[in-house]
Amino acid sequence: MMADVLHYRRLMPDDAARLIALVRACYGDSYPMALFYDEAAIASKLRDGLLVSAVAETAGGDLIGHVGTMWEYAGAPTADAMTGMIRPEYQRRGVLAQLTATVGLFYPPVLTGLQLYSVTTHTASQRNGLERGTVECGFLVPEFPSSMNAAGVINDPLGDRNPALAMYCPVQPPPARVVYTPSVYRDKLASLYERLHYPREIRTQSVPVPASVDAHTQCTSLEDPRKGVNRLVIHAMGEDWAQATQAFRQSVDASARTRGWYIDIPLHHPAAIALIERLRQEGWYFGCVLFERQQGDCLRMQYSHARIQREALQIASDTGWQWVDFVLADREATLRASR
Ligand SMILES: CC(C)(COP(=O)(O)OP(=O)(O)OC[C@H]1O[C@@H](n2cnc3c(N)ncnc32)[C@H](O)[C@@H]1OP(=O)(O)O)[C@@H](O)C(=O)NCCC(=O)NCCS
Repeated sequence: MMADVLHYRRLMPDDAARLIALVRACYGDSYPMALFYDEAAIASKLRDGLLVSAVAETAGGDLIGHVGTMWEYAGAPTADAMTGMIRPEYQRRGVLAQLTATVGLFYPPVLTGLQLYSVTTHTASQRNGLERGTVECGFLVPEFPSSMNAAGVINDPLGDRNPALAMYCPVQPPPARVVYTPSVYRDKLASLYERLHYPREIRTQSVPVPASVDAHTQCTSLEDPRKGVNRLVIHAMGEDWAQATQAFRQSVDASARTRGWYIDIPLHHPAAIALIERLRQEGWYFGCVLFERQQGDCLRMQYSHARIQREALQIASDTGWQWVDFVLADREATLRASR
C-alpha cells in the first residue's frame, strides 16, 4: 500500500459521498462541522464554488486525503482554509504539502488571502502554513470541541475545549483602509499590519456615526451544533448596534465551559470602538483578526470560560506563543472587570 502512487485532483460534486467516507475514516463521528456529514450540502457547495477542495486518490480509487477552502459568499475576497485530513496510514509522507499546492490551482483569480484555524494538539498544520508565508493573527480558545478525535495523531484534550491558533496567508494586496479600534488593541493590530505590509490607518478616537451610513445594523447568527460555538457576523453597523447585538451578547453563559461565542465586528466602522469596549466590559476578549471580510477587516471577539492547559498547547512559533499569551491576558483582564 505504501508504494501506492497518489493522484492529486479537484474534488467534484459527485465525490461528496466518498469525502464523507474519508471524514469518517479520519474522525469517526467527531468532526466539528455538520456540513462534512451531509452529502447534498457538500455537493451543492462544490457546485457553487463556495467549497474548493483537493483530494489525494490511490490507483485503486480510494480518497485518502483532503484539503478544502470555504468562501462565506460568492466573490468574497478571502476564504477559510480548512479540513486538512490524511488517512493515518498515509500521514508523514508529505501528502498535506501536495494537497495544499494542488488546491491553489483551483482558486478564483481574485483572492486576497486565506484564514486558517490550526489545531494546537500538534504543530503540523501551523508549520505547513508558516512555510507558505502565513502569519499568526490570534488565538481562539473555544474553536474545537475537546472530543474531536483525529486518527493517527495524538488528540489529548487541552482543557474544556481545544483552542486554535488563528493564522492568515496573504495572497494578493488589499486596498488601503481606515480601521477603528480601542487603544488597548492598537499596538497589536499595528504590528500585524506592519508584518503584512497592509496599508491601514488605525484610528482609536470614536467619532459619531454618520447618520446617512448604515442606519440599521445587519447581522447573521450562525450555529453548528457539532462545533459548540455560536457566531454573530455583523455585516453592517448602524446607530442601533447596541440593541441589535444585545440578545446575542446576553446569550453567553459563563457556566457553559464546553462551548463558546464569537462576534465578528467590521473595523472600518467607527462604532466598532464602542462595541468592542462594551464587549470587554461584559467579559468578551480578543479572538483574531479576519482580513477583508465585510468590506474590510473584522475583529473576532470571543467569549469562553473554558479551562485551557497552556503547558499542553503545541505552538510552532514564538509569535504564536505571543498571541496565546496576549489573548489569555486579555481574557484575564476582561473576566476580572466583568465579575
Ligand atoms: C496534520 C496532517 C494533515 C498532516 O498531513 P501529513 O501529510 O501527514 O503531513 P506531512 O507528511 O507533511 O508531515 C508533516 C508533519 O506533520 C506531523 N505529523 C504528521 N502525521 C503525524 C502523526 N500521525 N502524528 C504526529 N505528527 C504527525 C509531523 O510533525 C510531520 O513532520 P515530521 O514527519 O518531520 O515529524 C495529518 O497528520 C492529519 O490528517 N492529521 C489528522 C487531522 C488533523 O489534525 N488535521 C489538521 C487540522 S488543522
